[in-house]
Amino acid sequence: MEDLSPKPGDLDPIETASRDEIAALQLERLKWSLNHAYNGSAFYRAKFDAAGVHPDDLHSLADLAKFPFTVKTDLRDTYPFGMFATPREQLVRLHASSGTTGKPTVVGYTQGDIDRWADLVARSIRAAGGRKGDIVHVAYGYGLFTGGLGAHYGAERLGCTVVPVSGGMTERQVTLITDFKPRVIMVTPSYMLSILDAFHKAGLDPRDSSLAVGIFGAEPWTNAMRAEIEQAFDMHAVDIYGLSEVMGPGVAQECVETKDGLHLWEDHFYPEIIDPATGEVLPDGEMGELVFTTLTKEGLPIIRYRTRDLTRLLPGTARSMRRIEKITGRSDDMIILRGVNIFPTQVEEQILKCAGLAPHFQIELTRAGRMDEMIIHAEAGPNAATEDALSASTRELAHHVKSTLGVTARVVVHAPGGAPRSEGKAKRVLDNRPKAN
Ligand code: DLL
Repeated sequence: MEDLSPKPGDLDPIETASRDEIAALQLERLKWSLNHAYNGSAFYRAKFDAAGVHPDDLHSLADLAKFPFTVKTDLRDTYPFGMFATPREQLVRLHASSGTTGKPTVVGYTQGDIDRWADLVARSIRAAGGRKGDIVHVAYGYGLFTGGLGAHYGAERLGCTVVPVSGGMTERQVTLITDFKPRVIMVTPSYMLSILDAFHKAGLDPRDSSLAVGIFGAEPWTNAMRAEIEQAFDMHAVDIYGLSEVMGPGVAQECVETKDGLHLWEDHFYPEIIDPATGEVLPDGEMGELVFTTLTKEGLPIIRYRTRDLTRLLPGTARSMRRIEKITGRSDDMIILRGVNIFPTQVEEQILKCAGLAPHFQIELTRAGRMDEMIIHAEAGPNAATEDALSASTRELAHHVKSTLGVTARVVVHAPGGAPRSEGKAKRVLDNRPKAN
């Protein structure tokens, strides 16, 4: 694969600034952001007052710990526009979460917010190895989801030619990639696997495609999956992270030259890692829940937002801003099976160890009597679909799961095409256990 390290002069000065410079900028912006939230939003004013804190109480970055957390239910409780800190007329865009459980959460952007978002996604694409003049195929969903439009504006800002395909119609994705020859693709990693299938079905070798860089995010995925995709397409696969409450894609981005976790764009977002049980701030390097405070957001400033994403903060490498380790999973997606905590990414790693299995999978939870059971629905690879191969793969996966995760799972290996396919964010866990009432 091509060496895509940046050349001198490629980066913004802030990307290589000293830690002191970054911290000074963060403190100045944090003071602004707390004041803006307090003065502009009745929600934050009431919340700070109730906690007995005022923006003037912040003298250092560590003082942020005095301020109350914001959680997803705050957005739901103030649905639709109750958390905005600017008059609704000043917002040029709304996005919303899908709202599969309860009401959706609505987020709003001023023109300034949209501009900064585009700048940060442009910075992210460049860190991933994208360049001005590239054709960028965007297969993240367009619409209320932030993925499509977020990627789109950033690619345009970098000076790329954007193909706004959105998700779905997988055969057409392959046709457009073959005909338009994009250098960069932006899509969820699970949908990239569906596109990979469609290449094979069309009798095309994905390694011959024009793609050199894939910018994958919106869901957890593993380094084992990275290796799988890089090998299949002969391309670089890098991780992009973000969430709508904080902005959308482009909150953190992995650099193509190091692929060692995602640099948080700390000039716009202040990260903390907390102990999810106590809310206490943990030192860098420790695993916990990621919490964000926006430093420049106007429409919807967010103060100490609990993401439920589990990771740790690591020092800068390719850029001076700190990194987050690849996200293991969300606390909501953690499976507790007979007392053992399991993330779907851990199952993904075990599946990718088995040569006879395709990378598609879904986990089903059921209850037989009083015992919870985990069924891993996996799928045979195209060259391993004989009955003998299927039963060998079944035994191999069950063995890996038992020996590394410490639980007994029922493995079902389906024929090729038998496991569910994703067109966006993959649904990894199907909980069919009877609901407690
Ligand atoms: O998923 C924004 C996005 C779009 C990010 C496209 C990257 C690419 P939401 O729909 O609000 O926003 O979901 C945010 O998705 O809290 C994580 O749990 C998960 N997530 C996003 N990126 C990653 C990633 C978009 N790279 C939620 N790795 C977040 C693991 C991710 N999880």
